[in-house]
Amino acid sequence: MASLASIPQTQLFSKKPILNSKQINPIHRFSSIFFPRRTLSHSFGSMDGITKVPLRAAVSPVTAAAEVKKGFVEEMRRVAMKLHTKEQAPKEGEKVAKGPEERSPAKWDPTVEGYLQFLVDSKLVYDTMERIVDEATVSYYAEFRNTGLERSQSLAKDLEWFKEQGYSIPEPSEPGVTYANCLEELAQKDPQAFICHFYNVYFAHSAGGRMIGRKVSEKILNKKELEFYKWDGDLTQLLQSVREKLNKVAESWTREEKNHCLEETEKSFMYSGQILRLIFT
Ligand code: HEM
Repeated sequence: MASLASIPQTQLFSKKPILNSKQINPIHRFSSIFFPRRTLSHSFGSMDGITKVPLRAAVSPVTAAAEVKKGFVEEMRRVAMKLHTKEQAPKEGEKVAKGPEERSPAKWDPTVEGYLQFLVDSKLVYDTMERIVDEATVSYYAEFRNTGLERSQSLAKDLEWFKEQGYSIPEPSEPGVTYANCLEELAQKDPQAFICHFYNVYFAHSAGGRMIGRKVSEKILNKKELEFYKWDGDLTQLLQSVREKLNKVAESWTREEKNHCLEETEKSFMYSGQILRLIFT
């Protein structure tokens, strides 16, 4: 695959769709200079309790300048880290844990059936994401093909393993189906929002996701390490290469479009939180 650096900007973004407010799902239509922030009653899986504070007001000028230098991914990361609870990410998390899915995975009480459902629903999300970038209806989605972060095939192997152990594999359930449908729609109508989900899904899995895999496996799988948590090649390098591509893509966005992408982070947490919850239901 050609590297981003070698592709002229005009070609790279040639198919960028022109968006107007009619094309954007109403849920995304709030003003992009505002960032939805939850009150302390925030919990995964619900969009209640959102208040809006000016996005820029939440960032000191020094932090903002440093982030601009590091690229847009640093901004996405900062917003995501604030949406963690202290138990999930003690250094950077800011929320107070409410529901069990917001507590440390060490405190979870997982079941094999619940975890299997989580893997099935996660596979539907990764299948969808990976199909969307393969089809690349927006030209720059193609940059995210074959990044090495793909999880679809590794999840297929894991489900096969569970089958060999005598488990029957369930159909995807509501949280996975809802998220997959949302991704399909955003990919067509709202590329900045889609890219936000892309970033959060793959990067969350490489961080907290691995921690979850370890803890759950210790508790219910006799420490078996699933393929879902293994990558071909050096994960740090794979992530860095995707960060660079994301930064490059975002360079073509206006400040408004960047803010719109950041605003989507909370929805990404909500959908992923609903899927995480399956682990102990
Ligand atoms: C129980 C659930 C979760 C736990 C325990 C957890 C924990 C963590 C931890 C420890 C980090 C690493 C912080 C660091 O760099 O030092 C992290 C990073 C991150 N998490 Fe989570 N997280 C959870 C859920 C989520 C969810 C639901 C999302 C979004 C869908 C998410 C998105 C991210 C992102 C984007 C990063 C930054 C990764 C990077 O910079 O490479 N996390 N998480």
